[in-house]
Amino acid sequence: MTENIERILFSEEQVAARVTEVAAEISAKYQGRDLKLIGVLKGSVFFLTALARAITIPLKIDFLAISSFGKGTPGMVRIAKDLDEPIQDEDVLLVEDIVDTGFTTRYLLQTLAGRGPRSLGICTLLDRTVRRIVQVPVDFRCFEIPDRFVVGCGLDYRQLYRNLTYIAVLDSRALEASAGGRGVPEAHNQ
Ligand code: IMP
Ligand code: MG
Repeated sequence: MTENIERILFSEEQVAARVTEVAAEISAKYQGRDLKLIGVLKGSVFFLTALARAITIPLKIDFLAISSFGKGTPGMVRIAKDLDEPIQDEDVLLVEDIVDTGFTTRYLLQTLAGRGPRSLGICTLLDRTVRRIVQVPVDFRCFEIPDRFVVGCGLDYRQLYRNLTYIAVLDSRALEASAGGRGVPEAHNQ
């Protein structure tokens, strides 16, 4: 599985240590409140479960799935699977694998804000601010990353590599074989 890996950005140990730190920040901030983590399928599942296990206050979890449409058009997303429960009057933390252009996160924030949560925050494993097009308020993030396509810890390339225990840059030759330009797949599922 590692033949297309160019280099490891963050090792399993680095990820685990940083997740523990961010979980401590979250535990402190939401102490005594009704915290609900909302994961965006499928990319955030690995991060959400690690984070939830390291958070020391009681919490609930729920998931939604989104899919992109409008091939190559950033920001064209819709909800493919909605939350199971309402979020009214709850303290909601949206858990993302990566905030890249910001379009997906902004769409989700707008959608969830309309349901009357008590508060609504964003926690992301990775933040690639150099590619940001729309500004979104990231409350918690584990790592800032450079402008390279990455996989692992839930992040995929054509649905593969999500189960890598570290975060890695994919070899550009593997990407160029199937996509033009920056070497990022034109349309990817979340
Ligand atoms: P956005 O550009 O902020 O809307 O990000 C949309 C989605 O693109 C993310 O939730 C990821 O699923 C995916 N994505 C963006 N960059 C990467 C990457 O480097 N590797 C894998 N998936 C990515
Ligand atoms: Mg994806």
